[in-house]
Amino acid sequence: MVNGAPIVVVDNVSKVFGNGTGGINALHRVSLTIQAGEFVSLIGPSGCGKSILLRLIADLLQPSEGAIQVKGKPPRQARLDRDYGMVFQAPVLYDWRTVKRNVQLPLEIMRYPPAERERRAEEMLKLVGLADFRDHRPWQLSGGMQQRVAIARALSFKPSILLMDEPFGALDELTRERMNYELLSIWSQTDTTVIFVTHSIPEAVFLSSRVVVMTPRPGKIEKVIPIDLPRPRSFETREQTRFFELITEVRESLKEM
Ligand SMILES: Nc1ncnc2c1ncn2[C@@H]1O[C@H](COP(=O)(O)OP(=O)(O)OP(=O)(O)O)[C@@H](O)[C@H]1O
Ligand SMILES: [Mg+2]
Repeated sequence: MVNGAPIVVVDNVSKVFGNGTGGINALHRVSLTIQAGEFVSLIGPSGCGKSILLRLIADLLQPSEGAIQVKGKPPRQARLDRDYGMVFQAPVLYDWRTVKRNVQLPLEIMRYPPAERERRAEEMLKLVGLADFRDHRPWQLSGGMQQRVAIARALSFKPSILLMDEPFGALDELTRERMNYELLSIWSQTDTTVIFVTHSIPEAVFLSSRVVVMTPRPGKIEKVIPIDLPRPRSFETREQTRFFELITEVRESLKEM
């Protein structure tokens, strides 16, 4: 739940690739403060810098200008402190490892004792509803199940921030909606702050406490829309008038570009 303390502060951040006339202004003076426990979605046309912003927060890229603070630290330190879990569009699982051993991988790298690895993996598999599939191989699972394994793995070491880049983009509509419910249920059972990139307006509105609408070339924040739908969100949420009003509001601000 949102506890009001800023956990990620993006302050006037620009990112330029290359230099001179051929340089690409991927992000221009982006500022955004995210509170602990929030669920924030980034939405905007292809190439507007959503993935770049996520990568800057994750310390996978360095800003050209401006600064980022994560839990009051530079992103480098936050990465060393294992404050992040990451989930991408493709789940990137290891086919020769069982589901459970995929979930345990970060714990092995971090040298958790075997008993603790075992306990955490079981806990996470239960959380994502895959306890019965612990001994399966990833290729024996559906796309949605594989993505759940990736989420379990990202949460296995209890990161305070979960960064997700179009995690459900490759799934069909109904599976995606089911994954949305599951993600919110996981989020409400953990103390994780989620930053979520998506192309889907209904998905962003359904999940988020705020939707950040971005514009392309150079990538900027156009508008931040608070989502005042009550929680827990459910099947009924998708049928409320307010849900459609918010979808329209996001769509209008995307159209204005
Ligand atoms: N390594 C790089 N070198 C040069 N330009 C890059 C690099 N990475 C990204 N860019 C440029 O930065 C801009 C933003 O890229 P980014 O991947 O963040 O877009 P996005 O909003 O995630 O798009 P999509 O929705 O298609 O994933 C794009 O114009 C892209 O060409
Ligand atoms: Mg992207």
